[in-house]
Amino acid sequence: MSDRYLDFTQSAFGKSLSSLLGLPQPPRLKRAGASYAARPLEGRAVMLGSSGLGELAAPLLVALNEAGAAVQVATSLVGLPVIKAASAATGIALKTEPNPEDRAAAPSAFVFDATGLTGPAQLRELYDFMQPRVGRIPANGRVLLLGRAPADAGNASATAAATALRGFTRSFAKEIGKKGATVNLLEVGRGADDALAGPLRFFLSEHAAYITGQTLALTAPSGDAADRHFAPLAGKVAVVTGAARGIGAAIAATLAREGAQVVGIDRPQEEGALGETLSAFGGYGLALDITAADAPQRIARELVGRFGGVDIVVHNAGITRDKMLKNMAPHLWDMVLDVNFGAILRINDALLTEGLNDGARMVCISSIGGIAGNAGQTNYGATKAGVMGYVEAMAPLLARRGGAINAVAPGFIETAMTAQMPTGPREVGRRLASLGQGGLPIDIAEAVTFLASPLARAVNGRTLRVCGQNFVGA
Ligand SMILES: NC(=O)c1ccc[n+]([C@@H]2O[C@H](COP(=O)([O-])OP(=O)(O)OC[C@H]3O[C@@H](n4cnc5c(N)ncnc54)[C@H](O)[C@@H]3O)[C@@H](O)[C@H]2O)c1
Repeated sequence: MSDRYLDFTQSAFGKSLSSLLGLPQPPRLKRAGASYAARPLEGRAVMLGSSGLGELAAPLLVALNEAGAAVQVATSLVGLPVIKAASAATGIALKTEPNPEDRAAAPSAFVFDATGLTGPAQLRELYDFMQPRVGRIPANGRVLLLGRAPADAGNASATAAATALRGFTRSFAKEIGKKGATVNLLEVGRGADDALAGPLRFFLSEHAAYITGQTLALTAPSGDAADRHFAPLAGKVAVVTGAARGIGAAIAATLAREGAQVVGIDRPQEEGALGETLSAFGGYGLALDITAADAPQRIARELVGRFGGVDIVVHNAGITRDKMLKNMAPHLWDMVLDVNFGAILRINDALLTEGLNDGARMVCISSIGGIAGNAGQTNYGATKAGVMGYVEAMAPLLARRGGAINAVAPGFIETAMTAQMPTGPREVGRRLASLGQGGLPIDIAEAVTFLASPLARAVNGRTLRVCGQNFVGA
């Protein structure tokens, strides 16, 4: 369902009335709406800063340059020698930060390499980079910080400084969300320095419009050495559960957009809707209830028989049956646990035995309800938290086969599920987020597609929140 308040405040009359009354004016988010370009940052400038001991300048320069960005640097900052040395080593030219009045040359993104911080004093280098430039972050601009995983930082002081970046990210995201701008933090593990290109392409582009205030850890990739940035899913077979409508339909369409052959699954009573959704991009439909006793074997057999196996598995089908625990009948508990959780484990067990190709990537749909908890959702919250634990536990097994398993935790997303909410909680769910609005199914689909692709080859066992930094569970 559409967000009428957002539409109203975007009209000339709505804009002036909401300003007059001091009401919130959620920004119009710029979304990608098309497949990944070979050079997604072509024609854009990115301002690059570094701590004095930053370790990522060279891989950052290479990744930004290959993505088409012009890299700007400020002459006055402490990290300049590190960036200049990387520029000399890579042969990638730098541009001097333009005069603030020169709008045409203004950067669309700000990237700061905060690795090498030895303690609280060095955090001042981040302040010195960002503070004078806050006013220059454009509408829908991007800020991306790169740090080391606190566990890899070394001593307690460096660990504290690395952890401090998370708090900076969460707080700054709340300051600049009003203009649709986002701030995220990549924690780059040792061995992941050369896998930055994919995450940069995602987080600095319109593909990540609804993700802000988040920290994502990168670790040494287990799969393919080569990043594939253009048509990243060409030649891959993907299966998506709950694909008839809502988020699942958007995921199926977005995987197909990036080149995958998609198999969509939904309940037999949704067969018509499933066929309609999949016919738009040549997908193959499988009408079955994922909780049926024979579902895991049927899915594995179909994937092997028709497609020779599967490369991408997206567990999206999910239901709510909300009741306070004291009023919750056992069948409501069992039903939610089985669809949202039990079926995922059984299907994966079957696919791990037969059908899953080496290098396969899995994505499970969790929820911020599994982080914050909601009264009336003990069953749902348990399943969505359980899924996060499951991907963490399964990550080493998938890595041994050259693949990965991750989760996406959506916030409030405009679908049939949230359209059923009472008006008050629905409006609160939308507005109480740094980006001031609910997300769209495409926002979840973009994150799933990123995690399902080689762009995320350094991401395994993680849960990525896609929630506009919803204050619930923040
Ligand atoms: N909409 C939101 O705001 C939101 C927020 C957080 C998480 N999520 C999660 O995202 C996922 C998709 O949610 P949605 O809003 O698109 O829901 P939806 O109800 O619009 O769609 C869910 C789809 O799953 C299918 N499905 C349900 N049970 C099934 C079964 N047993 N076998 C096969 N298919 C089955 C349904 O038929 C439907 O097509 C769910 O896992 C949900 O928990 C949604």
